[in-house]
Amino acid sequence: MDRLLSTQVAVVLLLGLLRVEGRCELNRTEEHCACYNLSEESVGSIIQCLPATVVEFWGGELQSFAGLPIRDPDAATIDMLGSLLVRKIVFGDLLVPEELLARVLRFFSYTQVRELAFERCAFQGRGDWRQMAGQELPILALRFHRVSSAPLAGREQDLSLLGSWLRALQELALTGCRLTHLPCAIGRLLGALRSLDLAQNSLGDESLGAAFCGEAFPRLQALSLRRNRLSSYHGACRSLQRLPQLQHLDLSQNELLPAPGSSCRWPPSLQTFNLSGAGLDEVPAPLPPRLEVLDMSHNHLRAVDLSLRFLKRLLLSHNALRAAPSAAGCPALRSLSLDGNLLSELPWQELQRLREVAAAGNPFHCSCAGAGGLQALAGRGQLGQGWPQDYVCQSPPGYQGRLVEAVPVSVVQCRPAAIIVPICLLLALLGAAGAGCLLRARPGLARSCRGA
Ligand SMILES: *[C@@H]1O[C@H](CO)[C@@H](O)[C@H](O)[C@H]1NC(C)=O
Ligand SMILES: *[C@@H]1O[C@H](CO)[C@@H](O)[C@H](O)[C@H]1NC(C)=O
Repeated sequence: MDRLLSTQVAVVLLLGLLRVEGRCELNRTEEHCACYNLSEESVGSIIQCLPATVVEFWGGELQSFAGLPIRDPDAATIDMLGSLLVRKIVFGDLLVPEELLARVLRFFSYTQVRELAFERCAFQGRGDWRQMAGQELPILALRFHRVSSAPLAGREQDLSLLGSWLRALQELALTGCRLTHLPCAIGRLLGALRSLDLAQNSLGDESLGAAFCGEAFPRLQALSLRRNRLSSYHGACRSLQRLPQLQHLDLSQNELLPAPGSSCRWPPSLQTFNLSGAGLDEVPAPLPPRLEVLDMSHNHLRAVDLSLRFLKRLLLSHNALRAAPSAAGCPALRSLSLDGNLLSELPWQELQRLREVAAAGNPFHCSCAGAGGLQALAGRGQLGQGWPQDYVCQSPPGYQGRLVEAVPVSVVQCRPAAIIVPICLLLALLGAAGAGCLLRARPGLARSCRGA
């Protein structure tokens, strides 16, 4: 009985931390199982989820389980846990007593669960994490979205008890959690972390400096700080310059002030930089020198002049550009987005060497060269989405509101000189020949000219 109970408790806790009364729905093709409204005693429904690799639990409450006696699993339970197929578990819309979490987390060490996600959950109280000391878990990715808990500050003790596990963690997301601080100790602990997503929090310039204190996150490759309260480009550079392996950085949707004359150097490893919607009215400097992808869309840029040798993809849509940037400083450029600017013409000859150009929603001047250049780019499949319906002429008046695609650019319309000059020449030659005939053969006019 004891063993049965302990097995049951283990399965239930793992596959939902509790007994499920609501329904579970398995999607076999996706190997995905979702359970809703967990409540009373019923393990039955959860059995359905056994073939799934992703199991989700939405709704319900866990407080009543916080007091359950949970013992160490026996050999049979350990076998059973090891044979579960589940790799990812999602908990959503739940109140989670931290006490309970602290007691069941170690059960995961017998499973092959790689990823654990909490969405819109509230962690309550404080758990006793001593049992986790020295425990290693197979979980490599941990995600919290819109989760509330006791503040992280001042919990270094708990964190260090989880140290053996956290030191191996590879991905962490703490998004939409109203985070204002991230203790430096966390970064020091997360020595293997490769990806950190802190989007949609309230981190300011100073808390960034504190979170990325020396030696924090030594292996970090991807960092998102999208939509926080950062305001200093220079400050962000100063805080992040010590991340030796950083490749992808997202600072989009912050209101950044550029820092003219800043001497800060970004990590040279940076390849992808997202400055979309960052309130920029000029290109900030310095930029990381080895960038391959730069997104500065949705800003207020009026002019862009870049020199980035390795840049492959440049996104400048939804700015206030009146002239396309010169591609000369970016010899490796392959893709350029210029949608929604104020461009009346494109340097289409220069753009021909790119693989992809997007320039929908600009007020095009449909001269023969302009319209013809765009049509030629489109003809070679170089224009991205939006062709032809979003490429509209603004001028000359005769073409206003017409699609660029519909502007006639045949030689007759566009380069009449190209046709008229040869025709005139021909006429002139014929005329000259005729006149010659007339002069030379005036007496025998009809005969001589027939012979010519
Ligand atoms: C399983 O998921 C796929 C893709 O989301 C969906 O098309 C299909 O209808 C689902 N099957 C069931 C039984 O819900
Ligand atoms: C940059 O971030 C925005 C969100 O702020 C996103 O929509 C966009 O796709 C990102 N750009 C790139 C190149 O990933």
